[in-house]
This record gives sequence, C-alpha cells and structure tokens, in this order.
Amino acid sequence: MKIAVSGKGGAGKTSIACGLAISYSEKLDVLAVDADASLNLATTLGVENPKPLSQIKEIAKERARLSNGLVRMNPQVEGLIDEYSKKVSETLRLLVMGTVTGAGSGCLCPENAILRSLLSKLVLKRNEVVVIDLEAGFEPMTRGTIRNIDAILVVCEPSKNSVSVSQRILKLAKELGVEKAHVIANKIEGEKDLEFIKESLPVFHSLPTDPDFALKSRIAPYPKTTEFHRKIRELAGKLS
Ligand SMILES: Nc1ncnc2c1ncn2[C@@H]1O[C@H](COP(=O)(O)OP(=O)(O)OP(=O)(O)O)[C@@H](O)[C@H]1O
Ligand SMILES: [Mg+2]
Repeated sequence: MKIAVSGKGGAGKTSIACGLAISYSEKLDVLAVDADASLNLATTLGVENPKPLSQIKEIAKERARLSNGLVRMNPQVEGLIDEYSKKVSETLRLLVMGTVTGAGSGCLCPENAILRSLLSKLVLKRNEVVVIDLEAGFEPMTRGTIRNIDAILVVCEPSKNSVSVSQRILKLAKELGVEKAHVIANKIEGEKDLEFIKESLPVFHSLPTDPDFALKSRIAPYPKTTEFHRKIRELAGKLS
C-alpha cells in the first residue's frame, strides 16, 4: 500500500505521516518518504543528518537529467532505496528526497522525477507500506508526484484556507485518477470544528487537538504515548 499525505502548510501532514509509518511498522515493513524539502519527517522520526537524494548530485544528474538540461521522466531507481534510505528500526526505513540548497536554486525537478519513477516502479509485497510526506499545498499534485499511489490523505484544519486548499487537492486527485482520497480533519477541538469542515468536505477520520502531543513534540521525536497517536493507530487500521 502506498499512501501520500497532503494538505495546507502546518495542517499536520508530517505528524500524521510519521504516526502512520510508526503504526504500520509494528507489523509490516515500512518505507517512509520525506518528499518535503524542509526535511521535517526525518527530524520527527528522530533521524539526524539524513542523506537527501538531492545532495547526491551525480545521481540526480546521471539518473534524471539529460545532457541537454532536460529532465528524463523515467530515471533508473533500482537500488536507490537500499542504497540511500536510512534504517530507523528493524521494520522502518526513511528515504529523504531533497532540499533546496541555496536561494534561487529552486527546482526540485530531478528529485521529483526520481520520486515519480520510484513510486511507479516500486512493486510492493503484501506486507509492505510506503508513507509519503508531501510538500504543503497542491504543488505536488501538479507535478504528478502522486500519480502512482493507492491513497492520498488530505489533512484539513478547521480554517477557511485549509478547507479551500483541501478542496483543490481533492479535485486534482480525482483528475489524476487516484483511487482513494480521504480527508483527515486535524486539530479538532469540538463538534463545531468538525462541523465546519464537514460543511464543505467529506471527513474520513478526525484527530483532536492534543496539547500533550504538541508539547512532547517540541522536545523529542514523535511522541507515541499520546491521544493523538492512539487516534492515528485507529486511522491506520481504517486504511488497511
Ligand atoms: N492534532 C494535533 N494536536 C496538537 N498539535 C498538533 C496536532 N497536529 C499537529 N500538531 C502540531 O502542529 C505543528 C505542525 O504540524 P506538522 O509539522 O505535522 O504540520 P505540516 O502540515 O507537516 O507542516 P508543514 O506544512 O510546515 O510541513 C507541529 O508543531 C505539530 O506538533
Ligand atoms: Mg511537514
């Protein structure tokens, strides 16, 4: 199963991707993919100094970029995962796609080409799961990054902007033919918050605002002994 986590900036994508990766890794082999340039998933998983694919210039060049400067759409990905992912636990590995290294160096095109290719070529065994933490907003959808996934989660906070970004992501997911697109309501403090989102979007699962989770997240990697994680495990069960 390949799951991508999307949504507006700050909605809770990384927390949810991390929680799902940890939950699934209790029983299955999991590859967590940090597709956000800010490397938050690595930090949240407690992985220090990850080796992002984008810094492996030769790889990006050799496997994705043609000599005329164009980006090859289907770079070789065999071996990339074993070679460049970092072991987090016996059943959990992390692959970090890339960072923008300097102002103006902007485009993550080769990394996105690799990610697209990786996702399309990755043939999973039944007991394997891929969880991808996407960049904020609907950009990743326009690059076709998520074309080859089974489910996209659209994380939505009870705010007007978050709802509107979620609506656009859902529309693009439909256009791309993603089979399952599920709205996850996050940072819900009461019925009113949930109702606000439900007025505009179908909600698949709801996660509460958890001050304990927020506090513990500040000082350590993803905190498992929280109400937030209990609800994430519920979500993992619903998705599988
Ligand atoms: N349900 C929740 N309860 C309390 N705090 C939360 C909850 N969900 C997320 N947070 C906190 O909100 C902040 C943003 O969460 P997170 O980094 O997961 O969002 P994001 O969507 O990945 O953000 P970005 O767009 O910057 O990548 C973090 O400090 C996180 O600890
Ligand atoms: Mg994030």
